[in-house]
Amino acid sequence: MSIAQDQEQASKPFKQLDHRYEGIAKVTGKARYAAEFSESFSKTELVYAFLVRATIPSGSVKSIDSATASRAPGVLAVITPFNAPKLSQGPPQPPARRNLTLLQDANISYNGQPIAVVIGQSLNEAKVAAAMLKISYALQPAKLQWEKRLSEARWPKNPGKEPAGNHRGDIDAAFAKAAVTVDNTYITPIQFHNPMETHATIAWWQGDKLTVYDATQYISGVKMSLAKAMNIPVDNVRVIDPLVGGGFGSKGSMWSHVPLCAMAAKVVNRPVKLSLDREQMFGPVGARPSTINHIRLAAAHDGTLLGIQHDTVMNASVLEDFVEHAEGPAKNLYQSGASSVSAKVVEANLGISTFMRAPGEAPGTAVLEIALDELAEKLKMDPIELRLKNYAETDPSHEGRPWSSKHLRECYSKGSEEFGWASRNMTPGQRSDGKWLIGHGMATATYPANRSAAQATVRLLPGGRMYVASGTQDLGTGTYTIMAQQAAAGLGLDPKMVEVKLGDSTLPKAPVSGGSQSSASVLPAIQDATTQLKLKLIDLAVNDAASPMHGLQAADCDVKEGRLISKSQPAKSDGLVELIARNKNQPVEAQGQAEPSEAKDAMSTQSWGAVFAEVAVDPHTHMVKVRRIVGVYDIGVLLNEKTGLNQLMGGMTWGISFATHEDGIVDASTGRIVNASLAEYHVPVNADVGVLDVSVIGIPDLKFNPVGSRGIGEIGITGTAAAIANAIYNATGKRVREYPITPDKLLAG
Ligand code: MOS
Repeated sequence: MSIAQDQEQASKPFKQLDHRYEGIAKVTGKARYAAEFSESFSKTELVYAFLVRATIPSGSVKSIDSATASRAPGVLAVITPFNAPKLSQGPPQPPARRNLTLLQDANISYNGQPIAVVIGQSLNEAKVAAAMLKISYALQPAKLQWEKRLSEARWPKNPGKEPAGNHRGDIDAAFAKAAVTVDNTYITPIQFHNPMETHATIAWWQGDKLTVYDATQYISGVKMSLAKAMNIPVDNVRVIDPLVGGGFGSKGSMWSHVPLCAMAAKVVNRPVKLSLDREQMFGPVGARPSTINHIRLAAAHDGTLLGIQHDTVMNASVLEDFVEHAEGPAKNLYQSGASSVSAKVVEANLGISTFMRAPGEAPGTAVLEIALDELAEKLKMDPIELRLKNYAETDPSHEGRPWSSKHLRECYSKGSEEFGWASRNMTPGQRSDGKWLIGHGMATATYPANRSAAQATVRLLPGGRMYVASGTQDLGTGTYTIMAQQAAAGLGLDPKMVEVKLGDSTLPKAPVSGGSQSSASVLPAIQDATTQLKLKLIDLAVNDAASPMHGLQAADCDVKEGRLISKSQPAKSDGLVELIARNKNQPVEAQGQAEPSEAKDAMSTQSWGAVFAEVAVDPHTHMVKVRRIVGVYDIGVLLNEKTGLNQLMGGMTWGISFATHEDGIVDASTGRIVNASLAEYHVPVNADVGVLDVSVIGIPDLKFNPVGSRGIGEIGITGTAAAIANAIYNATGKRVREYPITPDKLLAG
């Protein structure tokens, strides 16, 4: 499809909700999250579990003396590796897979691993009793300080996944003929997801049927994994989670506390709530690994990239390898003569790593895009010009396969115009505002566009109302809102008339809300469902003697703006409200499903963006303030102005956090997370964020899916960190290659 046709398609109006579907419930406190459903158990009183965690990094629990704790007020049970019910320890279900520690043995693999559960009438009683446990350990030497053991780096055990090394062209020849090269090492720290809603589970059993309210990005994944862990049929498990208070990848897998909560509920034969406290968010529920990245760029005098090499090494838990593919963008972000990438891991006694917002691309662009800035400087080229010179018209990582749609060029030009890039001074340290040094930097943003099979149900209800349901999740991202819009669009109704159901594993199946794929997966299923619904409504009307449509051919009928119409005789029409009223107010229901087409293998699907940052740096304290960021994204259709732009802003805020705040610190001798609180694990507050100017190109990607929209949950973090790092260099002339860029590093640099 040509750009002109794309734009024509884009300009077709579709009705957006002005406000979040669940917005009023949220701001009035009526919205409820997983941990807030206690009144559903009025007949059986809810009790509380507290997770006890290891305080050594490696070895085993020798003994737990729970005599005193068990006699403490309100205590119902203490579960330890020595008395825990035996569970199935089969391999967890992908993609929610994560190796669990379920008190089935006394081994300890990291400091902070769950080693006991105390159940009390109240949370306080459980917590107080937990402090009374007398735990003795057999300490083994721990593998820590992984960054000092890089010689132990090995290929990850990642069966079924792409090889962790990838080579195209002759990289050595590229460097041999290069006029200009960059060769540096860039470091990103361990980062911990900290959604406002901590992980929480409420579990209760009715016979061998288990129901859980669980804070999760993947209700059907938890259903499968929990059934496996508890060794019960998958259909005996129901998972409910109508609202998620942020996930960012942390809630994409089921972690140990979920089956432990189910186990506790079985032991005390009561509904049990297990809610992690903030400190417990640091370790047992995943983290982004630290990466050490050796990047080499080879270029000709005119800026043509001859070779890109990116070798990344990261920490991995002794329990399980997880690969953060920071080397990914080096394969497909730019055209280059040759490329060579690899990813290796060094084992450590740390909690398991997992996906965290834009896994791979977040650290990958954060480091590669500094290297590009360094190359531009050496070439005395404008950083945008360098990127345009090496623009990947097709996907270099898949033998030049076409992109489904790519409008990154427009992102660069719109962004540079809005930012005022032309007035940037290429020489660092030249610009000031009062005492502040001012710097401007830019970077490219990118994240793959994913989608999976999904199902949905729609119903036309009396009074022109609709119902739409899918077993997906809303992480605060706007799933409810865009589901209402899509259902309404199918019949030309007002999205305000749609009731939405999600977050219950009894609903039609949808994929994990991860990999920025929910809207791209679920909306086509709703679109299919409304198409089926239309056919049913038409069938009902043409067979209804009281309908003006009676006797017409179904193929001659359509539904537009809430009315049935005859295509050949425009005077003939029937209202949907009237049709359902005559149907004795019986709703009409249809199912729909959608999955990626086979054509997906013939193209690459990716989103793009250009990010521009202005920073102010205090030359004495080296404090950095991010004043302004302009982000322009090519993500296909923007489905909802408010929820969509909010997500991009949230991502950009994460980029600020990546650049200048977040840093998970591991104690070198005990493996404890030193800064396991939001007081010491820094994330930006409003005063740290500055002005975020975000916009989209908005050209539909109809080759990717029939809705024309690519996911936006993750791309906002990509590129932003490097744009800030490059702006800091432009302000100060100091090139910091280790995130976060804090005053101490600028002082030393
Ligand atoms: Mo996202 S890190 O795939 O939830």
